[in-house]
Amino acid sequence: DAAKFIAIDGPAGSGKSSVSKEIARRQGYGYLDTGAAYRALAWYVLERGADTADEQAVLAAASDFPLQQGLDADDRRVAVGDVDVTDAIRDPRVSAAVSGVARVPAVRVQVNEVFRRLVAEAPYPAVVVEGRDITTVVAPDAPVRILLTAAPEVRAARRAAELGGENAAAVAEALHKRDRSDSAVVDFLTAAPGVDVVDSTDLDYQQTVDAVLAVIGERL
Ligand code: C5P
Repeated sequence: DAAKFIAIDGPAGSGKSSVSKEIARRQGYGYLDTGAAYRALAWYVLERGADTADEQAVLAAASDFPLQQGLDADDRRVAVGDVDVTDAIRDPRVSAAVSGVARVPAVRVQVNEVFRRLVAEAPYPAVVVEGRDITTVVAPDAPVRILLTAAPEVRAARRAAELGGENAAAVAEALHKRDRSDSAVVDFLTAAPGVDVVDSTDLDYQQTVDAVLAVIGERL
Protein backbone atom coordinates (compact mmCIF):
# COMPACT_ATOMS: atom_id res chain seq x y z
CA ASP A 1 0.00 0.00 0.00
CA ALA A 2 1.71 3.14 -1.25
CA ALA A 3 -0.73 5.65 0.27
CA LYS A 4 1.76 6.84 2.90
CA PHE A 5 4.61 7.45 0.47
CA ILE A 6 5.74 10.94 -0.50
CA ALA A 7 8.15 9.68 -3.18
CA ILE A 8 11.07 11.90 -4.17
CA ASP A 9 13.68 10.71 -6.67
CA GLY A 10 16.69 12.46 -8.10
CA PRO A 11 20.43 12.38 -8.62
CA ALA A 12 23.13 13.30 -6.12
CA GLY A 13 23.43 17.03 -5.59
CA SER A 14 19.84 17.79 -6.59
CA GLY A 15 19.08 18.93 -3.05
CA LYS A 16 16.95 15.83 -2.49
CA SER A 17 18.16 14.94 1.02
CA SER A 18 18.07 18.35 2.66
CA VAL A 19 14.77 19.25 1.03
CA SER A 20 13.16 15.91 1.94
CA LYS A 21 14.27 16.25 5.57
CA GLU A 22 13.01 19.80 5.90
CA ILE A 23 9.62 18.87 4.46
CA ALA A 24 9.31 15.88 6.79
CA ARG A 25 10.09 18.13 9.77
CA ARG A 26 7.70 20.88 8.79
CA GLN A 27 4.81 18.54 7.98
CA GLY A 28 5.33 16.09 10.83
CA TYR A 29 6.10 13.26 8.40
CA GLY A 30 8.65 10.50 8.68
CA TYR A 31 11.76 10.50 6.51
CA LEU A 32 13.51 7.60 4.81
CA ASP A 33 16.83 8.00 3.00
CA THR A 34 17.01 4.88 0.80
CA GLY A 35 20.45 5.85 -0.49
CA ALA A 36 21.71 5.57 3.11
CA ALA A 37 20.34 2.00 3.24
CA TYR A 38 22.18 1.08 0.03
CA ARG A 39 25.29 2.73 1.40
CA ALA A 40 25.00 0.75 4.64
CA LEU A 41 24.69 -2.44 2.60
CA ALA A 42 27.81 -1.53 0.61
CA TRP A 43 29.61 -0.85 3.90
CA TYR A 44 28.48 -4.26 5.17
CA VAL A 45 29.73 -6.05 2.05
CA LEU A 46 33.12 -4.31 2.34
CA GLU A 47 33.24 -5.03 6.08
CA ARG A 48 32.74 -8.73 5.44
CA GLY A 49 35.71 -8.60 3.09
CA ALA A 50 33.49 -9.64 0.19
CA ASP A 51 33.97 -8.50 -3.38
CA THR A 52 31.31 -5.92 -4.31
CA ALA A 53 31.44 -7.20 -7.89
CA ASP A 54 30.51 -10.73 -6.76
CA GLU A 55 26.71 -10.81 -7.08
CA GLN A 56 26.31 -13.94 -4.98
CA ALA A 57 28.37 -12.46 -2.15
CA VAL A 58 26.37 -9.23 -2.30
CA LEU A 59 23.09 -11.12 -2.27
CA ALA A 60 24.25 -13.22 0.69
CA ALA A 61 25.06 -10.02 2.59
CA ALA A 62 21.65 -8.54 1.68
CA SER A 63 19.89 -11.66 2.95
CA ASP A 64 21.27 -11.23 6.43
CA PHE A 65 21.57 -7.46 6.61
CA PRO A 66 20.82 -6.15 10.13
CA LEU A 67 19.96 -2.61 9.08
CA GLN A 68 18.88 -0.20 11.82
CA GLN A 69 17.41 2.94 10.34
CA GLY A 70 14.92 5.24 12.04
CA LEU A 71 12.40 7.47 10.27
CA ASP A 72 12.92 10.62 12.32
CA ALA A 73 14.18 13.47 10.10
CA ASP A 74 16.18 14.83 13.04
CA ASP A 75 17.91 11.54 13.79
CA ARG A 76 19.82 10.32 10.79
CA ARG A 77 21.79 7.61 12.59
CA VAL A 78 22.19 4.42 10.62
CA ALA A 79 23.55 1.24 12.17
CA VAL A 80 24.35 -2.23 10.91
CA GLY A 81 23.84 -4.58 13.83
CA ASP A 82 25.31 -2.62 16.71
CA VAL A 83 27.87 -0.72 14.63
CA ASP A 84 27.00 2.93 14.04
CA VAL A 85 27.84 3.58 10.37
CA THR A 86 26.34 7.08 10.06
CA ASP A 87 29.70 8.65 9.15
CA ALA A 88 31.32 5.61 7.55
CA ILE A 89 28.67 5.38 4.83
CA ARG A 90 29.70 8.83 3.54
CA ASP A 91 33.27 7.66 3.03
CA PRO A 92 34.43 7.91 -0.63
CA ARG A 93 35.28 4.20 -0.45
CA VAL A 94 31.61 3.40 0.21
CA SER A 95 30.41 5.96 -2.37
CA ALA A 96 32.58 4.24 -4.96
CA ALA A 97 31.28 0.76 -4.07
CA VAL A 98 27.57 1.49 -3.64
CA SER A 99 26.52 1.49 -7.32
CA GLY A 100 27.93 -1.99 -7.79
CA VAL A 101 25.99 -3.33 -4.83
CA ALA A 102 22.78 -1.56 -5.87
CA ARG A 103 23.04 -3.00 -9.38
CA VAL A 104 22.07 -6.56 -8.40
CA PRO A 105 18.34 -7.00 -9.21
CA ALA A 106 17.67 -9.61 -6.50
CA VAL A 107 19.26 -7.26 -3.96
CA ARG A 108 16.93 -4.45 -5.02
CA VAL A 109 13.89 -6.70 -4.62
CA GLN A 110 14.91 -7.51 -1.04
CA VAL A 111 15.78 -3.96 -0.11
CA ASN A 112 12.52 -2.62 -1.59
CA GLU A 113 10.54 -4.94 0.67
CA VAL A 114 12.38 -3.52 3.68
CA PHE A 115 11.47 0.03 2.57
CA ARG A 116 7.79 -0.86 2.08
CA ARG A 117 7.63 -2.50 5.49
CA LEU A 118 9.34 0.44 7.24
CA VAL A 119 6.83 2.87 5.71
CA ALA A 120 3.80 0.68 6.40
CA GLU A 121 4.80 0.32 10.06
CA ALA A 122 5.87 3.95 10.52
CA PRO A 123 4.09 5.90 13.28
CA TYR A 124 3.59 8.84 10.90
CA PRO A 125 0.70 9.84 8.62
CA ALA A 126 3.13 9.88 5.69
CA VAL A 127 6.81 9.29 5.04
CA VAL A 128 9.03 11.28 2.68
CA VAL A 129 11.00 8.57 0.92
CA GLU A 130 13.92 9.72 -1.20
CA GLY A 131 15.93 7.67 -3.65
CA ARG A 132 16.33 6.81 -7.30
CA ASP A 133 13.42 4.48 -8.05
CA ILE A 134 10.82 5.31 -5.40
CA THR A 135 8.46 7.02 -7.88
CA THR A 136 8.78 4.20 -10.41
CA VAL A 137 9.48 0.89 -8.67
CA VAL A 138 9.11 1.06 -4.89
CA ALA A 139 5.88 3.09 -4.78
CA PRO A 140 4.54 3.78 -8.29
CA ASP A 141 1.06 4.27 -6.76
CA ALA A 142 2.17 6.93 -4.28
CA PRO A 143 -0.13 9.97 -4.16
CA VAL A 144 2.87 12.31 -4.45
CA ARG A 145 5.71 11.48 -6.84
CA ILE A 146 8.39 14.06 -7.53
CA LEU A 147 11.58 14.05 -9.56
CA LEU A 148 13.98 16.66 -8.23
CA THR A 149 16.62 17.50 -10.83
CA ALA A 150 19.35 20.07 -11.44
CA ALA A 151 21.92 20.63 -14.16
CA PRO A 152 24.97 18.36 -13.73
CA GLU A 153 27.44 21.20 -13.19
CA VAL A 154 25.21 22.73 -10.51
CA ARG A 155 24.92 19.38 -8.75
CA ALA A 156 28.67 18.84 -8.81
CA ALA A 157 29.29 22.32 -7.41
CA ARG A 158 26.80 21.75 -4.57
CA ARG A 159 28.30 18.40 -3.67
CA ALA A 160 31.83 19.87 -3.67
CA ALA A 161 30.67 22.73 -1.41
CA GLU A 162 29.07 20.20 0.94
CA LEU A 163 32.34 18.33 1.21
CA GLY A 164 34.26 21.46 2.14
CA GLY A 165 35.02 22.88 -1.29
CA GLU A 166 38.26 21.02 -1.81
CA ASN A 167 39.09 18.98 -4.86
CA ALA A 168 36.03 20.17 -6.81
CA ALA A 169 37.18 18.49 -10.01
CA ALA A 170 37.64 15.11 -8.34
CA VAL A 171 34.26 15.41 -6.63
CA ALA A 172 32.59 16.23 -9.94
CA GLU A 173 34.28 13.30 -11.65
CA ALA A 174 33.25 10.82 -8.90
CA LEU A 175 29.68 12.11 -9.00
CA HIS A 176 29.39 11.82 -12.79
CA LYS A 177 30.87 8.34 -12.69
CA ARG A 178 28.31 7.26 -10.08
CA ASP A 179 25.50 8.88 -12.11
CA ARG A 180 26.53 6.91 -15.20
CA SER A 181 26.72 3.67 -13.29
CA ASP A 182 23.39 4.27 -11.47
CA SER A 183 21.69 5.27 -14.74
CA ALA A 184 22.34 1.81 -16.10
CA VAL A 185 20.07 0.42 -13.36
CA VAL A 186 17.29 2.97 -12.97
CA ASP A 187 16.45 6.06 -14.98
CA PHE A 188 16.39 8.83 -12.42
CA LEU A 189 17.07 11.65 -14.85
CA THR A 190 13.77 11.63 -16.75
CA ALA A 191 10.35 11.64 -15.12
CA ALA A 192 8.02 8.68 -15.58
CA PRO A 193 4.43 9.50 -16.65
CA GLY A 194 2.54 11.22 -13.84
CA VAL A 195 5.69 12.24 -11.96
CA ASP A 196 6.03 15.97 -11.21
CA VAL A 197 9.40 17.51 -12.04
CA VAL A 198 11.00 20.18 -9.87
CA ASP A 199 14.17 21.55 -11.47
CA SER A 200 16.30 23.23 -8.81
CA THR A 201 19.02 24.50 -11.19
CA ASP A 202 17.98 28.14 -10.78
CA LEU A 203 16.36 27.85 -7.36
CA ASP A 204 17.98 28.40 -4.00
CA TYR A 205 17.33 26.02 -1.16
CA GLN A 206 14.25 27.77 0.21
CA GLN A 207 12.72 28.15 -3.24
CA THR A 208 13.25 24.46 -3.85
CA VAL A 209 11.51 23.55 -0.57
CA ASP A 210 8.60 25.82 -1.53
CA ALA A 211 8.34 24.31 -5.02
CA VAL A 212 8.22 20.77 -3.60
CA LEU A 213 5.68 21.80 -0.93
CA ALA A 214 3.52 23.31 -3.69
CA VAL A 215 3.45 19.97 -5.52
CA ILE A 216 2.59 18.11 -2.32
CA GLY A 217 -0.23 20.58 -1.61
CA GLU A 218 -1.62 20.02 -5.11
CA ARG A 219 -1.45 16.25 -4.95
CA LEU A 220 -2.55 15.48 -1.41
O1 C5P B 1 21.28 9.11 -2.55
P1 C5P B 1 22.70 8.60 -2.39
O2 C5P B 1 23.65 9.31 -3.28
O3 C5P B 1 23.14 8.54 -0.98
O4 C5P B 1 22.60 7.08 -2.89
C1 C5P B 1 23.71 6.25 -2.82
C2 C5P B 1 23.61 5.16 -3.89
O5 C5P B 1 22.58 4.23 -3.56
C3 C5P B 1 23.28 5.64 -5.28
O6 C5P B 1 24.45 6.06 -5.96
C4 C5P B 1 22.67 4.38 -5.93
O7 C5P B 1 23.68 3.51 -6.39
C5 C5P B 1 22.01 3.71 -4.75
N1 C5P B 1 20.57 3.93 -4.69
C6 C5P B 1 19.75 3.16 -5.49
N2 C5P B 1 18.38 3.27 -5.40
C7 C5P B 1 17.83 4.14 -4.53
C8 C5P B 1 18.65 4.96 -3.73
C9 C5P B 1 20.02 4.85 -3.85
O8 C5P B 1 20.24 2.37 -6.28
N3 C5P B 1 16.49 4.20 -4.42
